[in-house]
Amino acid sequence: MTITKKQAAREISSQMNIPGRKMDFEFDLNELPRYWHGGDVFKTTYMNALSCLFPEGERMFIDAVRDNQHFVKDEALLKQVKGFIKQEAIHGHEHSQFNKYLDSMGYPASKVEAFEKKEKKLMKKYIPAIGRLAITCAIEHFTAIMAHDILNNPQTTKGMDEKFKALWQWHAIEETEHKAVAFDVYQKAGGSYIRRVITMMLITIFFCLRTSTVQAIFLWKDGKLFSPKVWWQGMKMYFGKNGIVRSIWSDYIDYYRPSFHPWDHDNRELLEEWIEKGQSYKTV
Ligand SMILES: [Fe+2]
Ligand SMILES: [Fe+2]
Repeated sequence: MTITKKQAAREISSQMNIPGRKMDFEFDLNELPRYWHGGDVFKTTYMNALSCLFPEGERMFIDAVRDNQHFVKDEALLKQVKGFIKQEAIHGHEHSQFNKYLDSMGYPASKVEAFEKKEKKLMKKYIPAIGRLAITCAIEHFTAIMAHDILNNPQTTKGMDEKFKALWQWHAIEETEHKAVAFDVYQKAGGSYIRRVITMMLITIFFCLRTSTVQAIFLWKDGKLFSPKVWWQGMKMYFGKNGIVRSIWSDYIDYYRPSFHPWDHDNRELLEEWIEKGQSYKTV
């Protein structure tokens, strides 16, 4: 009996094991060079901006999934929801630690986090649970395709501080493992295709604007916002031969397909490769 692509994706999704991992990363952030991404100012401040936005964003995802989990009746997905919550909570914690380091470097990371916290409260008050879940699905798709790029495209992490690279790769692995959880809960909650794609269009604009604004603040603090060299680094990072846009575009567009499912793109081999490397951690 042949199974369809859709059935195969659902099958993979239902079988995914999503453990919470407490990693044994041991490094002193104070030893990290200011431009830890191979001395590239644009790439470093871009990833610093992402990190700054993660903790509150991830807490918002947890709330959105929790507020819809009563629609889920099957045990396998409920177990995955638990794993998703653990993973996102640990990511939020790790990135909060990193954000303290950003503060110590003179970047206003805590202020950005505080702003995000207020925004999260307003979202909870004014956006229905299914709307927040659609936002979560859209951003989870972004994080999943960027995670794939981190794990699959050596150019993305080339020159990155080695210890720090391990932290980003771990986050990318877990984003890959749980990439379908919010999506599957959205399906169970009866979320529509129209809501899903309109939300993605809005989130694309919002996500790019938000990340760029925070990055611009960081560059301003460094006195490099109007540096032609840094803008050139940015052009290469986004639109160069191995740049983000070329790397993620087809996966991004795929989200607009009515029958899309995150596991249509089966990249479990990346998880196996990472596990084989033997990174030490405790399962929680
Ligand atoms: Fe995460
Ligand atoms: Fe995630």
